[in-house]
Amino acid sequence: MSTHKDIKRVTTHVLSEMKRNGEKISMLTAYDYSMAKIVDEAGMDVILVGDSASNVMAGHETTLPITLDQMIYHASSVIRAINRSLVVVDLPFGHYQGDSKGALRSSIRIMKEAEAHAVKLEGGKEVIESIQRILTAGIPVMGHLGLTPQSIYKFGTYTVRAKDEEEAKTLIKDAKLLQEVGCFALVLEKVPASLAEKVAKSIDIPVIGIGAGGGVDGQVLVLHDMLGITQEFSPRFLRRYHDLHQEILKACEHYIKDVKSSDFPNQNEQY
Ligand code: KIV
Repeated sequence: MSTHKDIKRVTTHVLSEMKRNGEKISMLTAYDYSMAKIVDEAGMDVILVGDSASNVMAGHETTLPITLDQMIYHASSVIRAINRSLVVVDLPFGHYQGDSKGALRSSIRIMKEAEAHAVKLEGGKEVIESIQRILTAGIPVMGHLGLTPQSIYKFGTYTVRAKDEEEAKTLIKDAKLLQEVGCFALVLEKVPASLAEKVAKSIDIPVIGIGAGGGVDGQVLVLHDMLGITQEFSPRFLRRYHDLHQEILKACEHYIKDVKSSDFPNQNEQY
């Protein structure tokens, strides 16, 4: 199978080509320059400056408190680091729900001040006016359906969505609508694998899953979760590729020991 590892810049067009060619799309979050530099160097197709920064960077319980200024700060740090990846930035809670003009204003700030490549927002029919208005400015939009964390107080729990027929039907309708109005891709979070596969097969735009099984067009994870920096979050869908929490802890303990015992700095580590 041909892959796009050698391509200079991933664009929304490259992603649709990947779907057409059956090449899976890789996507991870990043929120700062140093991490984004590594993720980009690895050859990640898409970097998501997710509002999960609210949880993993700022320690909030939900994604709701993060502000637009904070998202722009994270996004501009990421953008300065990347050579290849497409950088998508989450529109934070309160910047598009029920306010399409505000959605456009906020998206323009993200594109202008952070120099991002696209925005992502959560929801289907209920936010379609916002999506359409953002698209009129030529800003690419990624959708997000299924478990949409900005609606956590409506759901009441982070459990799997669309297990019942009615919610599944609405989700399929919403996915088709997002494609119809011009979204270039969508994230499907925490829905049954069979439903996710059905959605991916019923639309032409790439469907990128998190907790949505292997039948979709790509996968996304939160960087700090897959590296094992966060410890408290262990959903079934999460594959941990490292235990960085332990590694960092050991390194810090070692440093403390060396400082306390005057082992650090040694003769070669001073001027
Ligand atoms: O904010 C985020 O990290 C996300 C992913 C979980 C898709 O939206």
